[in-house]
Parts: sequence; structure tokens; C-alpha cells
Amino acid sequence: MGCNEVKKGKTNISGNDNPIILEVPEPEIEAKVVAQILQGEKVYMQYCLVCHQETGGGVSGLNPPLQDTEYVLGEKNRLIEILTKGSNVGLSIKGNTYSNAMPGFGNLSDDDIANVATYIRNSFGNRADPITKEEVSQYKLVYD
Ligand code: HEC
Repeated sequence: MGCNEVKKGKTNISGNDNPIILEVPEPEIEAKVVAQILQGEKVYMQYCLVCHQETGGGVSGLNPPLQDTEYVLGEKNRLIEILTKGSNVGLSIKGNTYSNAMPGFGNLSDDDIANVATYIRNSFGNRADPITKEEVSQYKLVYD
């Protein structure tokens, strides 16, 4: 392959059995975003997995999916808000409602929130730009 060719393909950046596959040209995945996704995966495993599951598919009737939803892919502040404050209003996600409550994770660091948000925005078939810890701090300054 020539030097100027961009290598396209599926990149498993996690290197384990729970692959994080990014279907983008490799040079476009910035190293610092990759680092965020990998850190975010750890946060997800510890705090979110139990409800939203390994696939991000959620649990029917209880916990909503994180695949291709407005909350995950849409406005950053709305995502930061639900992660830090939680929600128990019976959200309608893709036409279904869920009876569990989402706890708030206001006790996690801005880094952890940014990383887990970036992880879910780039897992489960999702692809959206990263959320930085500065954006989380800014949200807290303005809305907390
Ligand atoms: C105890 C179960 C539980 C845990 C733990 C939990 N969630 Fe949730 N989550 C829910 C429920 C239930 C809702 C819907 C809340 C509502 O209806 O008001 C939700 C909603 C969401 C939404 C918005 C709706 C959607 O499907 O896009 C996102 C994003 C989300 N959770 C991400 C996370 C992340 C990231 C974590 C870990 C930091 C986490 N959740 C931990 C149960 C949970």
C-alpha cells in the first residue's frame, strides 16, 4: 500500500473479547479519543453494564437501549445531564418506556463522565464526536 493511501477497515481498538470496532479510516481516530474510549469502557463495565448490558441493548421494559438513540448521539449537554443527575420520568425511547430508574453519577469525576459518554457514543454501532472533560466541567458550571 502506498504511503498516501488511507487504510480503511474495522479496527478493534480494545484488543479483547468485547471488541470496540471503529469502522473509520484509522488515521482519523485520534489517539486521545481512543484513550478516552478505552477508559470509558472501564467506567461502563463498572457502573452501566448491569442495566444497559454488554451490547448496549438494555433490558426490555426495564432499561432502555443505548443503540442509535437521541440521548446518546444528540445534544451533548442532555447526555451529560442524564449521566450526572439520572432520570426517573419514564422516558420514551424509540416508542417504548422503561420502568427502572436511572441513578445519577454526580459522584464520578468529569474525566469519567466524559470518557463513558465518549465510549457509548462510539460503541454499539454508534459513532459521534467525543465529549471532553472540559465540556463536562462547563456543563456543571452553567447548570449545577
Ligand atoms: C439501575 C439501572 C441503570 C444504571 C446502573 C444505568 N442506567 Fe442508564 N438508564 C436506566 C433507565 C431505567 C433509563 C431511563 C430513565 C427514565 O425513564 O427516566 C436510563 C436512561 C439512560 C440514557 C438515556 C436513554 C437512552 O436510552 O439513550 C442513557 C444515555 C443512559 N441511561 C446511559 C447510562 C450510562 C452511561 C450509565 C453508567 C454510567 C447508566 N446509564 C447507568 C437505567 C440505568
